[in-house]
Order: sequence, then structure tokens, then C-alpha cells
Amino acid sequence: MRIVLLGAPGSGKGTQAKLLVERLGVPQISTGDLLRAAVAAQSPLGLKAKAAMDAGELVSDDIVLGMIRERIAQADAKAGFILDGFPRNSAQATALDTLLAELNQDIDRAIHIQVPFDELLKRLTGRRTCTQCGALYNVYFSPPKQDGVCDRCGGALMQRDDDNEQTISRRLRVYEDQTQPLIEYYERQGKLATVSGSGEVTEILRRIIEALSV
Ligand code: AP5
Repeated sequence: MRIVLLGAPGSGKGTQAKLLVERLGVPQISTGDLLRAAVAAQSPLGLKAKAAMDAGELVSDDIVLGMIRERIAQADAKAGFILDGFPRNSAQATALDTLLAELNQDIDRAIHIQVPFDELLKRLTGRRTCTQCGALYNVYFSPPKQDGVCDRCGGALMQRDDDNEQTISRRLRVYEDQTQPLIEYYERQGKLATVSGSGEVTEILRRIIEALSV
């Protein structure tokens, strides 16, 4: 199964992608995670991407498309994948369709996770991520048992550099301008399903699974 998760920053794409990996047995491909790993490794690609990420702008299409092409070609993605945070604009969406057509593949479903804008800010400012296993927490909604420590592996929790109010408001605007039009793009292809992203995480997963089996 090849799935695109669409939604504003903080809508829960990463949270749901991790649960879908367990349910569907295909990998999560998050361009945000790939870019953050490149920044942490201080690779030439990471150094190029960092300024755009810190400003809440999109990283250039050629960088992101190169990463996606490489990742989709890996053995574990042959049977399918969950795209989290990609595509992000119409150029990326059409490039993805072309790339998949070359591989005789196609997107099966685009899931739009819809969350009211006023909920997003609290989710983003409260987010904490484990530096070792990547588990997600939220100091307001799902705090760890011990402050700053991962329940699952004991790793240190960190706050993302772009989860500050100024960058968040830019990211939300970029989403509205460049990514939101993709909802219509996938609707025109008959692949779109919109689910509410408010409520319990497990209930949202149930909605997504239901939308996938339609
Ligand atoms: P990226 O990493 O993709 O960030 P994003 O799209 O802004 O999305 P987030 O990761 O912030 O949110 P999410 O929807 O995954 O929510 P999460 O599950 O974590 O991109 C970062 C940057 O990289 C971009 O700004 C850009 O610069 C660059 N980039 C990435 N991809 C690119 C591309 N394709 N092209 C160009 N540039 C690109 O949840 C958020 C919080 O809410 C967590 O704390 C979680 O615990 C909590 N939460 C989740 N669900 C619930 C719930 N139901 N109730 C309460 N809290 C919840």
C-alpha cells in the first residue's frame, strides 16, 4: 500500500505514520526526519537545508526529490510506504507521480488529517521527541512519566528548533499557500479521504484504517 499523509504542521502525521507502520508493515518515509538527520550529520545537503528549515520555509524541490528518489528505491519500500510530509507543493506531487509511473507504481490513497488551526499551536509548542528512539510526547496532552526522559527507552527528550512561535506561524502560512492545494489535487485523482485529527490518537488511527479499506 502506498499512502500520502497530508495535514498541517502538528496535525499528527508523524504520530499516525508510526502507528500505521505497525499495522501495515510498510515503512514511514518522512522528509522532515530525513532532513533533520542530514542537518544533525552536518552533511552538505543538511547544511543547505538548515536555513530554510529554521525559517519555516520549504527546502528546495531538487534536494527533497533527490532524497525521495533514493529512499523509495530501497528494498523495504518495494511493497509500499507511508509518505509523511511529502509531497508539499504541486511540483513535488507531479514529480512523485512521474517517479512512481517509471516504477510501475501509484499512490493508492491520500489521507488528509484535518485539525482546527487553534489546536495546532499547542500541539507544536508542547511537542517533545526522544533523541534515541524518536518516540513523540506532548507536555500538554501526553507527557512522559519523568520530565525530559523517554518512557520507552530512557533517552533524552528534545524540542525541535522549528517549534517556536515565530517559525510555527510561518510554517502554518506555508502550509496554507503551498500544501493545502494538494487536497484538491488528490481529490481530482479520486484518491482523497479526509479524517478528523481531533480526539484520541487510537480513535484517529481507526478512522484512517477505515478510510484506507474503502
Ligand atoms: P516536517 O518534519 O514534515 O514538519 P511538519 O509538516 O511541520 O509536521 P510536524 O512534524 O510538525 O507535525 P506532524 O503532523 O507530524 O505532527 P506530530 O505527529 O509530530 O517538516 C519540517 C521542515 O522540514 C519543514 O518546515 C521544511 O522546512 C522541511 N521539509 C520537510 N518536508 C519537506 C518537503 N517535502 N519539501 C520541502 N521542505 C520540507 O504531532 C505534533 C504534536 O501533537 C506531538 O507532540 C504529538 O504528540 C501531538 N499529538 C498528535 N496527535 C495528537 C492528538 N490526537 N491529540 C493531542 N496531541 C496530539
